[in-house]
Amino acid sequence: MRYAAITGWGMHVPERVLTNNDLEEMVATSDDWIVSRTGIRERRLAAPHETATSMAVAAAKQACDRAGIAPQAIELIVVGTFTADQQMPSIACEVHRELGAARAAAFDVNAACTSFMYALIAATQFVRTGMYSTVLVVGVDINSRFIDYTDRGTCVLFGDGAGAVVLQASEEPAGLLSSVLGADGSAGHVLTLGDPEQLAHLNGVSEMPRPYMKMNGSEVFRFAVRIMGDAAAEAIEQAGLTYQDIDALVPHQANMRIIDAAARRIALPREKVWVNVERYGNTSSASVPICLVEAEREGFIRDGMNVVVVAFGGGLTWASGVLRWGPGSVVRERIA
Ligand code: COA
Repeated sequence: MRYAAITGWGMHVPERVLTNNDLEEMVATSDDWIVSRTGIRERRLAAPHETATSMAVAAAKQACDRAGIAPQAIELIVVGTFTADQQMPSIACEVHRELGAARAAAFDVNAACTSFMYALIAATQFVRTGMYSTVLVVGVDINSRFIDYTDRGTCVLFGDGAGAVVLQASEEPAGLLSSVLGADGSAGHVLTLGDPEQLAHLNGVSEMPRPYMKMNGSEVFRFAVRIMGDAAAEAIEQAGLTYQDIDALVPHQANMRIIDAAARRIALPREKVWVNVERYGNTSSASVPICLVEAEREGFIRDGMNVVVVAFGGGLTWASGVLRWGPGSVVRERIA
């Protein structure tokens, strides 16, 4: 059997911090409200000179260094995002250029906040089938460019960031042991960015601002509470494991109450759940890989552990898997 071990990881968050107190000055909200409903205390916002690409490249370079590979060793770059700097070229192609990853194929995946998980699962298939042995997967979103900072329903929730992992072929169980993907297009209207109505309105004005995110918070909340737990449970079952075999949960960081519900569903105590939502808010596609980087740094996830990863997002979409952390026995292939 061939597996896709995670052998390198990296992250980038902008320096600028936007606190709940800062938001109190901008919209009718309060630190109390935000903390009690979401668990978020602050989030990071990109500086004017930063782009989704620059954040993705910073995370990708760290991941390659950590894996000990030169960019020329990468055969495929998959970037999960829904806030690309432009429609074309893709962020994956921009990362390709910036890294000088001359041998690599490159494409973006858009599954909203689930984009990194979709990208990770897609990339894993390329490695497991034998088509590629070394793949770079990035999750990045520059949400602040698409948020209406007069809308208290969305502006308190989101932040910017990027995370990346390197996958390499392994002969021992490592990387994703199971993969669950799902979507419900019929409910897509509850979370949108640039829907036709909004774009028609924007097209009617001369100074066209960027489209921004619109959300029915309580509908999304109900969906998320159900799907995060169900998807986590399905990933464990598909891996042939039981709840007792799970060492850690690394969930998408949207809202503390959603994270708690997911943990309860798979009977995991709070101390086995990685949480950083209080510091970054919802960084969308960057959320899970940033968590993996910090969890590894803190010794919270270690070689051989079974780690459940799970995310949800617009679309609506969801994805989950059980990750066996550590390099396994990586197949070192000769680079031409
Ligand atoms: N500050 C103060 N009040 C706010 C607010 C804010 N930042 N945002 C919304 N409200 C108000 C609403 O206007 C509404 O007021 P109304 O009842 O007078 O109309 C009220 O709070 C809603 O309260 P409640 O129903 O108790 O909120 P909630 O418990 O559903 O929490 C969210 C709201 C947005 C935090 C929650 O629904 C949520 O997290 N949803 C999921 C969002 C998400 O994760 N999206 C990203 C997906 S990847």
